[in-house]
Amino acid sequence: MSNTTRLRLGILGSGKGSNMTAIADAAAAGQIPAEVALVLSDVADAGILARAAKRGLPAQFIPPGKFRTKLDEEAERACIAALQAARVDLVVLAGFMRILKGEFLRAFPQRVINIHPSLLPSFPGLEAWRQALDYGVKFTGCTVHFVDQGIDTGAIIAQQTVPVLDTDTPESLHERIQQAERTLYPAAITLLAGGKISVRGRRAFTGAGD
Ligand code: GAR
Repeated sequence: MSNTTRLRLGILGSGKGSNMTAIADAAAAGQIPAEVALVLSDVADAGILARAAKRGLPAQFIPPGKFRTKLDEEAERACIAALQAARVDLVVLAGFMRILKGEFLRAFPQRVINIHPSLLPSFPGLEAWRQALDYGVKFTGCTVHFVDQGIDTGAIIAQQTVPVLDTDTPESLHERIQQAERTLYPAAITLLAGGKISVRGRRAFTGAGD
């Protein structure tokens, strides 16, 4: 018997929102046991907010404050309050380009996940697809991981490889990685909804092979 829960998702993004769209569409079609309860962005005119509004999803801009790479205290508190008011079970970072630390992570322990466009621990940080191309690897991919205090360092939940082609440009490689992301992220959310993921040390066990 399945003990899968329907998760209420809070999705945070700064960009165009293709991951949010894939997750919202999979949820609306009943393909994943989840619903999008709230979409937040630190960028007032981000595509993710427009795409959420088009789908009738609650979407809100949170002014990030004075820092460039993180939210200031007031913004972080506003985010936490909005996510709690929306009764969010899982916080899903989808191209959210600011670091979340201390207070935010304590408010949602082991309940914040991120997708990164490389096979971590290779190429953390910005423009991971460009880093992979510049380095000359033959395979890269994407990683869904729990968020901890580091940058792209939390326990890994799921990964998908993507080949690097001789003809690739940064743009074509990023597009193929994003295609993989649109399958991997919904699949990882389904794993989490199944309640089967446990973390010991660096390793997240997904129950695969039970
Ligand atoms: C995605 O490719 C995601 O992996 C990346 O931002 C893009 C957002 O696209 N995230 C990072 O680089 C985080 N370090 P989207 O707005 O179309 O979902």
